[in-house]
Amino acid sequence: MKILFLNGPNLNLLGTREPEVYGRTTLKDIEAKVRERAARFGAEIDFRQTNAEGELVAWIQQSKGYCNVIVLNAAAYTHTSIALRDAISAVGVPTIEIHLSNVHAREEFRHKSLIAPVCKGQIAGFGADSYILAVEAAVNVNESSK
Ligand code: DQA
Repeated sequence: MKILFLNGPNLNLLGTREPEVYGRTTLKDIEAKVRERAARFGAEIDFRQTNAEGELVAWIQQSKGYCNVIVLNAAAYTHTSIALRDAISAVGVPTIEIHLSNVHAREEFRHKSLIAPVCKGQIAGFGADSYILAVEAAVNVNESSK
Protein backbone atom coordinates (compact mmCIF):
# COMPACT_ATOMS: atom_id res chain seq x y z
CA MET A 1 0.00 0.00 0.00
CA LYS A 2 1.03 3.60 -0.50
CA ILE A 3 0.40 6.47 1.95
CA LEU A 4 0.66 10.06 0.74
CA PHE A 5 1.65 12.48 3.52
CA LEU A 6 0.80 16.09 2.69
CA ASN A 7 2.01 18.99 4.83
CA GLY A 8 0.74 22.55 4.50
CA PRO A 9 2.08 26.02 5.20
CA ASN A 10 4.85 26.76 7.71
CA LEU A 11 5.45 23.09 8.52
CA ASN A 12 8.80 23.45 6.72
CA LEU A 13 9.78 25.57 9.75
CA LEU A 14 9.26 22.80 12.31
CA GLY A 15 12.18 22.59 14.69
CA THR A 16 12.51 26.35 15.06
CA ARG A 17 8.86 27.45 14.79
CA GLU A 18 7.24 28.04 18.22
CA PRO A 19 8.98 24.99 19.75
CA GLU A 20 6.86 25.29 22.91
CA VAL A 21 3.82 24.49 20.72
CA TYR A 22 5.24 22.28 17.98
CA GLY A 23 8.34 20.73 19.58
CA ARG A 24 11.91 20.69 18.27
CA THR A 25 11.60 17.85 15.79
CA THR A 26 12.11 18.96 12.18
CA LEU A 27 9.89 17.84 9.31
CA LYS A 28 12.84 15.84 7.94
CA ASP A 29 13.12 13.99 11.28
CA ILE A 30 9.37 13.33 11.26
CA GLU A 31 9.60 12.01 7.71
CA ALA A 32 12.38 9.60 8.77
CA LYS A 33 10.29 8.32 11.71
CA VAL A 34 7.27 7.87 9.42
CA ARG A 35 9.33 5.91 6.89
CA GLU A 36 10.74 3.69 9.65
CA ARG A 37 7.27 2.90 11.04
CA ALA A 38 5.76 2.37 7.57
CA ALA A 39 8.50 -0.12 6.70
CA ARG A 40 7.22 -2.37 9.51
CA PHE A 41 3.90 -2.59 7.68
CA GLY A 42 5.47 -2.83 4.23
CA ALA A 43 3.81 0.48 3.34
CA GLU A 44 5.32 2.88 0.81
CA ILE A 45 5.54 6.58 1.74
CA ASP A 46 5.40 9.73 -0.36
CA PHE A 47 6.05 12.70 1.94
CA ARG A 48 5.57 16.31 0.72
CA GLN A 49 5.28 19.88 2.01
CA THR A 50 4.11 23.09 0.36
CA ASN A 51 3.14 26.56 1.48
CA ALA A 52 0.68 26.90 -1.42
CA GLU A 53 -3.01 26.00 -1.07
CA GLY A 54 -3.38 25.34 -4.82
CA GLU A 55 -0.52 22.86 -4.76
CA LEU A 56 -2.21 20.89 -1.98
CA VAL A 57 -5.42 20.88 -4.06
CA ALA A 58 -3.47 19.64 -7.12
CA TRP A 59 -1.77 16.88 -5.11
CA ILE A 60 -5.11 15.71 -3.70
CA GLN A 61 -6.62 15.69 -7.21
CA GLN A 62 -3.70 13.59 -8.49
CA SER A 63 -3.93 11.11 -5.60
CA LYS A 64 -6.69 8.92 -7.05
CA GLY A 65 -5.15 5.67 -8.26
CA TYR A 66 -1.77 6.83 -6.97
CA CYS A 67 -2.08 6.13 -3.23
CA ASN A 68 -4.45 4.22 -0.95
CA VAL A 69 -4.70 6.76 1.85
CA ILE A 70 -3.81 10.44 2.32
CA VAL A 71 -2.54 11.75 5.67
CA LEU A 72 -3.03 15.50 5.67
CA ASN A 73 -1.66 18.15 8.01
CA ALA A 74 -3.25 21.09 6.23
CA ALA A 75 -1.89 23.45 8.94
CA ALA A 76 -3.68 26.83 8.84
CA TYR A 77 -5.66 25.84 5.71
CA THR A 78 -7.50 23.36 7.95
CA HIS A 79 -9.44 26.27 9.35
CA THR A 80 -10.00 28.25 6.14
CA SER A 81 -9.97 26.14 3.00
CA ILE A 82 -13.22 25.14 1.31
CA ALA A 83 -11.04 24.29 -1.72
CA LEU A 84 -9.21 21.56 0.20
CA ARG A 85 -12.44 20.17 1.58
CA ASP A 86 -13.97 20.07 -1.91
CA ALA A 87 -10.85 18.34 -3.34
CA ILE A 88 -10.93 15.63 -0.65
CA SER A 89 -14.61 15.03 -1.20
CA ALA A 90 -14.33 15.12 -5.04
CA VAL A 91 -11.48 12.61 -5.19
CA GLY A 92 -12.78 10.17 -2.58
CA VAL A 93 -9.38 8.86 -1.44
CA PRO A 94 -9.68 8.10 2.32
CA THR A 95 -8.02 10.99 4.16
CA ILE A 96 -6.82 11.25 7.75
CA GLU A 97 -6.52 14.73 9.27
CA ILE A 98 -3.57 15.25 11.59
CA HIS A 99 -2.09 17.99 13.76
CA LEU A 100 0.94 18.15 16.01
CA SER A 101 -0.82 20.36 18.54
CA ASN A 102 -4.19 19.82 20.20
CA VAL A 103 -6.07 22.37 18.10
CA HIS A 104 -9.12 22.06 20.36
CA ALA A 105 -7.15 23.29 23.37
CA ARG A 106 -5.85 26.38 21.52
CA GLU A 107 -7.39 29.59 20.13
CA GLU A 108 -11.05 29.36 19.17
CA PHE A 109 -10.36 29.84 15.44
CA ARG A 110 -8.42 26.54 15.50
CA HIS A 111 -11.39 24.61 16.93
CA LYS A 112 -13.16 24.58 13.57
CA SER A 113 -11.83 22.26 10.87
CA LEU A 114 -13.42 22.68 7.44
CA ILE A 115 -11.91 19.38 6.31
CA ALA A 116 -12.94 17.20 9.29
CA PRO A 117 -16.40 16.31 7.89
CA VAL A 118 -14.84 14.80 4.75
CA CYS A 119 -12.00 12.99 6.56
CA LYS A 120 -12.06 9.50 8.07
CA GLY A 121 -10.92 10.89 11.41
CA GLN A 122 -8.55 13.26 13.15
CA ILE A 123 -5.37 12.76 15.18
CA ALA A 124 -4.24 15.84 17.10
CA GLY A 125 -2.12 16.75 20.08
CA PHE A 126 0.60 14.11 20.13
CA GLY A 127 3.39 16.18 18.60
CA ALA A 128 5.52 14.27 16.09
CA ASP A 129 3.83 11.07 17.30
CA SER A 130 0.61 12.23 15.59
CA TYR A 131 2.39 11.29 12.35
CA ILE A 132 3.39 7.84 13.64
CA LEU A 133 -0.14 7.16 14.88
CA ALA A 134 -1.37 8.21 11.44
CA VAL A 135 0.72 5.49 9.78
CA GLU A 136 -1.11 2.88 11.89
CA ALA A 137 -4.48 4.54 11.24
CA ALA A 138 -3.80 4.61 7.48
CA VAL A 139 -2.92 0.91 7.44
CA ASN A 140 -6.14 0.12 9.32
CA VAL A 141 -8.25 2.34 7.05
CA ASN A 142 -6.78 0.61 4.01
CA GLU A 143 -7.39 -2.87 5.47
CA SER A 144 -11.01 -2.11 6.29
CA SER A 145 -11.68 -0.63 2.83
CA LYS A 146 -10.76 -3.97 1.16
C1 DQA B 1 -1.23 22.62 13.00
C2 DQA B 1 -2.32 23.38 13.76
C3 DQA B 1 -2.83 24.55 12.93
O1 DQA B 1 -3.83 25.26 13.66
C4 DQA B 1 -1.71 25.51 12.62
O2 DQA B 1 -2.16 26.53 11.77
C5 DQA B 1 -0.50 24.83 12.04
C6 DQA B 1 -0.10 23.53 12.56
C7 DQA B 1 -0.60 21.49 13.87
O3 DQA B 1 0.01 20.59 13.29
O4 DQA B 1 -0.70 21.54 15.10
O5 DQA B 1 0.20 25.40 11.22
O6 DQA B 1 -1.82 21.99 11.87
